[in-house]
Amino acid sequence: MSGLVGYIGRREAAEIMVDALKKLEYRGYDSAGVAVITGKDISCRKEIGIIRRLKDSLERNPITGTIGIGHTRWATHGKVSVENAHPQIAGNIAIVHNGIVDNYIELKEELLKEGVVFQSETDSEVIAHLINRELGNLEEAVAKALKKIQGVYALIVLSADDPEKLIAVAYGTRMVIGLGGGEYFVGSDTTAVAPYTKDVIFISDGERAVISREGVDIRNISGQRVTKKIERIGWNPVMMEKGGYRHYFIKEVCEQPRVIIDTLHNHIHGGEVDFAGLSLSDKDLAGITKIVLTGGGTSLNAAIVGKYLIEGIAGIPAEVESISELRFSPIKKLGGQLMVAISQSGETIDAVSCLRHGNAYGAKTIAITNTKYSTLEKEAGGNINISAGPEISVAPSKSFTGSIVSLYLLAIYLGIKRGTLSAEKSAEMIKNVAALPHKIEEAIDLEERMEQLSRIFYRNKGFLYIGRGINYPIALEGALKMKKLSYLYADGYIGGEIKHGPIALVDEDTPVVVLVPNDKYYRHTLADAEEIAARGGTVIAFATEGDTEIAKRFEHIIYLPQSDYYLNPILNSIPLQFLAYFVGLRRGCMVDLPRNLAKSVTVE
Ligand code: AGP
Repeated sequence: MSGLVGYIGRREAAEIMVDALKKLEYRGYDSAGVAVITGKDISCRKEIGIIRRLKDSLERNPITGTIGIGHTRWATHGKVSVENAHPQIAGNIAIVHNGIVDNYIELKEELLKEGVVFQSETDSEVIAHLINRELGNLEEAVAKALKKIQGVYALIVLSADDPEKLIAVAYGTRMVIGLGGGEYFVGSDTTAVAPYTKDVIFISDGERAVISREGVDIRNISGQRVTKKIERIGWNPVMMEKGGYRHYFIKEVCEQPRVIIDTLHNHIHGGEVDFAGLSLSDKDLAGITKIVLTGGGTSLNAAIVGKYLIEGIAGIPAEVESISELRFSPIKKLGGQLMVAISQSGETIDAVSCLRHGNAYGAKTIAITNTKYSTLEKEAGGNINISAGPEISVAPSKSFTGSIVSLYLLAIYLGIKRGTLSAEKSAEMIKNVAALPHKIEEAIDLEERMEQLSRIFYRNKGFLYIGRGINYPIALEGALKMKKLSYLYADGYIGGEIKHGPIALVDEDTPVVVLVPNDKYYRHTLADAEEIAARGGTVIAFATEGDTEIAKRFEHIIYLPQSDYYLNPILNSIPLQFLAYFVGLRRGCMVDLPRNLAKSVTVE
C-alpha cells in the first residue's frame, strides 16, 4: 500500500512530487524516494522515514529536471532500508511499485542465473530488471515484462533511454492521471493530484498509460487503445490542510458534526431516506434473505455496528465477516444475499476481493465508501458515499461515524421498503438523527475532560474497553484507536464476556472504559463495572447525562447526551477518539502516522 506519484511537465518534478507524496503519506511512511531525468541520466534520492526527511534532503541538495517518479513505502518484502526504498533501478530503468509480485522468487532465480545482480531485498526490483532485460522499445519492454508478473500492482516506469515519457500501469488496483495544461500528474489516489488539477482519468484492469508532454495514450491489457472518460474530482485542496489544528486526527474528530449534516443532506429528501443510487428494485429488496456486512480494521467495527442496526431496525438477518476471511469464503451460491462492503478508501484490496466474490456468485452488492471513483465504488452494484471529505490521519475518525450514519439510514430504508418499519417510526428515527450533529458538538466539548483523563492514565500499561449490544463494537473501536495512537496494549470485550476470562487482566494498572448508557443493558453493564471495581480495577464510565446512580459508584464518569439506542455508539466514539489521541500525544507517538501502519491497505 505504498504511494506512487509521477510528473511530466515544465516545473521542477522533484518539488511537485515531494508535495504530492506528502498527500499520500497515509499509504506508507517508512521510506520515500524520487527519481528524476537529469539530462541523459536518472538521478535518484531515497531517505528512510517520513517524507519530511526526503524534502529536507532535496532542499539541501536539489535534483533538477521536469520528469520524474516518486514513492512512499509501506514495506512488504525487505526491511526498511535505503536499498529497499523505491525507486528501484535496473540499468537505465527506474520504477516505483505498489503491490506484491507473487512469483518474485522464481523470477529472481531466473534473473540471477542470467547474471543479474540485485541491490535490494524487494520483490519490486525484479520488475525493473525484467523491463531492463527486454529493452529496446520501452512500451514493448514493459508489456513483455508484465506478462511474466503475477499479482496485483500499480507501477510507474521511467527510462533514461526514452526520457520524454512515463509509463503507468494498474492491474487489480487503479491509478489516477491528472490532466494539467501541458503537464501531467500521476498518483495512487486523487489526493495526490487534487492540488494541481481537477480533471483526471483513472486506469485499472491492466491498462497502461504512456504519458508524454503531448498527451496520454492508454492501452488495455491486450494492447488495444482505449478512450477514457475525463472525471472531475470534487475535493477541494483546502479540505486536505490542517486548518490550524495540531494534527489531522483532531481536525477530523472535530469535523464530525459537519460530516453527519452532509450525509443527511445527501440521503434524506422530503423527510424520507432516499437511496435511489443503490440500484435495488423492489423485487431485489423483497428478495433479500440475509445481509452480509464486511470491512477491515475500523471498517470492520462499523460493519458490526451495522449488524445491530440492520437486524434491529429492518429486521433482516445480518452477519459480519472480516474482509480478510470473507474473500476466501467457500460459499459460491449467494443469491438472496446483500453484501455491504465498507471501506473508507474504497481501495483496500481484501474489500475489493470480497465485493468481486459477491458479484461473481449472485449477491447484490453495495459499497459504503468515502472515496468517489474508487475501485469498490466502481465495481459495486450500488453505492453509498460517506461524505466525510478527505480523511488524512491514518487512524480513521469521521469516516467511522459517517459510515455508521450511512448504515443507520440504510437500515431505515430497508425497513420501509420491506414493510418492517412503520412510517411513524421512520419519521421518529429521522428526527433523532437530525438532532445528532448538535449532540456531537456537546460530545466534542468533552475534549478538555478527556485530556485531563489522559494525564492520569497515560503511564498505565494498557486499557480495556467493554460494552454490550450495539456498544460492543464501539468497545472494539475504542481499543483499536488506543492501540494505533498510543501503542499501548488495549482490547475490547462484550461486557457479559469479561467474567469468562478477560477479568483476569484487570489490575490497578489497567483502567477499564465501560460504555454504560441508559439502554436495555444498563443494569447488566453496571454489574460488569462493579465486578471490575471489586477486583481493584479503575472504571472510566461513559454514561448518559442525568444518570445519578452511577455518580455514586465510580470516580471517573463521562456524561454523554441522551440519545436513541441506535445512535448512542456515535456519541460514545467521540470521547474515545479524544482519549486515544491525548494518550498517544502524551506518550510522544506520531498520532497522524502511527508506526507500521498505512491508511489504504492495497496489498494482500
Ligand atoms: C490504518 O490503521 C488502517 N488502514 C485501518 O485504520 C483501516 O480501518 C483499515 O485498513 C480499513 O481501511 P478502509 O476502510 O479504507 O478499507
